[in-house]
Amino acid sequence: MPPSEASDPFFEPYDRDQIAYGDQPSAALAAYLQQVPRSGKALDLGAGAGRDTVALAKAGYDVLAVDLSHRGLQRIEQRAKAAKTAGKVQTLAVDVREVLMPENTYDAIVATTVLDHIPLRDAVMLWDRMAKSLTETGILYVQVHTTEDPGSDQSPGRESDAPVSETAGAVINYFPPNQLALWAANPKSRLRILRYEECLEWDYTHGPEHLHGKAILLATRAGAHPPWYGHPAMFPRR
Ligand SMILES: C[S@@+](CC[C@H](N)C(=O)[O-])C[C@H]1O[C@@H](n2cnc3c(N)ncnc32)[C@H](O)[C@@H]1O
Repeated sequence: MPPSEASDPFFEPYDRDQIAYGDQPSAALAAYLQQVPRSGKALDLGAGAGRDTVALAKAGYDVLAVDLSHRGLQRIEQRAKAAKTAGKVQTLAVDVREVLMPENTYDAIVATTVLDHIPLRDAVMLWDRMAKSLTETGILYVQVHTTEDPGSDQSPGRESDAPVSETAGAVINYFPPNQLALWAANPKSRLRILRYEECLEWDYTHGPEHLHGKAILLATRAGAHPPWYGHPAMFPRR
C-alpha cells in the first residue's frame, strides 16, 4: 500500500466511484457565486475532492485547492479537467496550517469542514490568518461540525443515538453553539455576516447514512455590500 493511502483517512472515500461529499458545491456558497459574479483569487482549504473548488473555478476564480489527501487532489484535477477549468485550478498537498496567506490577497476563502479537523488553538490562529488574507470585497465561506453532531464527545451530540459518520474520527474540534458566529462578529475579524446557521443535516453521500451537526457561515468584509439576496433568495425575479 503506498504511504499516502495508509495514512490518509480520506483515501478510500475519495477513491470510490461515488466520491464522498458528492459533486454539488456547498449550497450557500453556490447561491452566492450565482448572485455575485466576481473573479479573482480563491483559496479552498481542506478542499477534499473539490466540489467547492470546481464551483469557484466555474464561477471565474483562479483557485488554489489545499488538502493533505493526495487522492482528493487527484480527484480535483480530474474534475477540473472534466469541467474545462483545469487552467483555473492549482492543487497543493500541504497542511492548511502551513499555507502562505498574505494579507489582503484572496477574493474568496472557503473552508468547508477543516477548522474542526485541527486543534482549537490552531483553528483560532488559522481563522485569524484567513480573516486577514481576505480582500476588501472578498467572500468567506466556512462550515464546521458542532457539538450537536452525534460524533461529538460533548452535549448534546454525545447523548444522541443517531448514526455517526464513518469519517468522524478525523473531526477533533467540535464547535459549541455560537462559537463560529462569535469569531465572525469579533471586530478584529473585520467581517460582515451575510448568513449564519446552525443545523442538523443528514449525509447520504458516503458510507451508511448519518447525521451531522453543522455551523455554516457566509461573510464578507465589513463595509462591503455585494448584491446578495439570501439563500434561498427571497421573492426571486420571475
Ligand atoms: C470532511 S472533508 C471535507 C472536504 C471538502 N471541503 C468538502 O466539503 O467536500 C475534510 C478534508 O480536510 C482535509 N484535512 C483535514 N485536516 C487537514 C489539514 N490539517 N491540512 C489540510 N487538509 C486537511 C482532509 O484531508 C479532508 O479532505
